Amino acid sequence: MEFQGISSDFPKSNADALAVVVFKGEKAGAAGIKELDGLTGGQIAAAIKDGEIKGASGETAIFRLKAGGGIKASRLLVIGCGEKDKFKLSDVAIAAGTATRCVRKLNLTSVAFSPRFDGDAVEIAQQSAQGSVTSQFELDKYKTADKETKEVKKFAVFVEGAKPADLKKGISRGQIIGESMNFTRDLANEPPNILTPTEMANRASKIAKEAGLKFEALDEAKMKKLGMGSLLSVSAGSEQPAKLIVLRYTPAKSTAKKGDLLALVGKGITFDTGGISLKPGENMDAMKYDMSGGATVLGTMRAIGLLKPSVPVLGIVAAVENMPDGRATRPSDVVTAMNGKTVEILNTDAEGRLVLADAVAYAEKQGATRIIDMATLTGAVIIALGEHNTGIMGNDQAQLEDVIACGKEVGENFWQLPLSEEYSKQIKSDIADVKNIGPRMKAGTIMGAAFIQEFIDKAKWTHLDIAGTAWNDSAKPHQAKGPTAVALRTLIKYVERSQ
Ligand code: BES
Ligand code: ZN
Ligand code: ZN
Repeated sequence: MEFQGISSDFPKSNADALAVVVFKGEKAGAAGIKELDGLTGGQIAAAIKDGEIKGASGETAIFRLKAGGGIKASRLLVIGCGEKDKFKLSDVAIAAGTATRCVRKLNLTSVAFSPRFDGDAVEIAQQSAQGSVTSQFELDKYKTADKETKEVKKFAVFVEGAKPADLKKGISRGQIIGESMNFTRDLANEPPNILTPTEMANRASKIAKEAGLKFEALDEAKMKKLGMGSLLSVSAGSEQPAKLIVLRYTPAKSTAKKGDLLALVGKGITFDTGGISLKPGENMDAMKYDMSGGATVLGTMRAIGLLKPSVPVLGIVAAVENMPDGRATRPSDVVTAMNGKTVEILNTDAEGRLVLADAVAYAEKQGATRIIDMATLTGAVIIALGEHNTGIMGNDQAQLEDVIACGKEVGENFWQLPLSEEYSKQIKSDIADVKNIGPRMKAGTIMGAAFIQEFIDKAKWTHLDIAGTAWNDSAKPHQAKGPTAVALRTLIKYVERSQ
């Protein structure tokens, strides 16, 4: 896809379609609409008057334009964006995505987009490019027929009076972030026979090259040597060897406080059968997405490598398959994690926390002072928060609130759950230091977090339970259904804030 920034003469843009944002209750005479309405012979005004266009969010309307007078576009798209005073920067990405998908549906290949947002040109261009790139992602990779073959090839964003350099910068950033999100979404969508832990490590190695990151993948022998008995207990039942993927970003010139190192740690269960505590058959297929946290770490690291912030970042993914087998871990087994703590495994389906235990301990061993982990950890978080909020918990309120604030800016919602000592008591084991589950039907999401906390030593740590937010069950006007790459944009904002 080719991107361009324009700062004057929007109606005369060299594109098949013009797309313009319209707000609820807006009149056709409003600035930025009036001239376009004229080109349609007053059709926008009529449609608004008749209630065909309400400006509601997600609403789209299409008008044909007459050629001539320097107008090249044959269509005008009106993109409804709700109330004007509620329209945020992150909504520009949604509007851009909606416009791109609408143009694609019309079988046109180029669009010029006017977001009509009053703000920084770099940011507006970034949101527009990112939204457009992510809107093109489809789930049909493995279809040989009925595949989406139409493609929008050119996207221009219009910001009146903007400096070309600002538009260029924003577009480049938006492309990087959008493509990184699509990389993450592609991984989450991959079937588990294709995306094994080994293949996940291969993909990580590929993006490391592309984005200038240092890559390493610890194999099972190395992990055994390091004492990662908790992680290895999960891979014991699988033919697929586990990999601990480690990506390192080091800035040319660091502005980080001496000794400060941020680590992003992801759950990368390439398939979760539950192990010996086997899951029911119904919907088990959904568990291919159980590596979404790891996929987000990889996508975020890709973006970081290309955006080049001035702080170092460590990315760690515990890539493991959870299978039942003669060699698989049994409920009641006791294992020892890398930090020396013993774990009584009472349910092999609570495996995410087992792999993260060793992954966060490893991050700290590598010098991490701040850790953010992300995981499709519990079904309970879906019951608690549904698909609109990611559960967030941690041991440092200031860091946690920073993450929530970054999320707000990019349009990702987080909701904090309590994590106090009483909860930690509930995972004390009778025969080992801790057990991997708490009491039945009680605060399941917090139990997962409380378990991971046992393996944090001194680091400031934030845990994101993305089980409800990593996958969208229905398509939206701006994006296909399926993987969302949730938390990626929040983390980039967080890293850039740390500079
Ligand atoms: N990967 C699942 C979490 C999950 C479950 C995500 C359902 C989406 C839908 C995780 O490994 C798991 O199985 N967790 C158990 C924990 C329980 C055994 C304490 C769960 O949530 O049921
Ligand atoms: Zn599980
Ligand atoms: Zn799982």
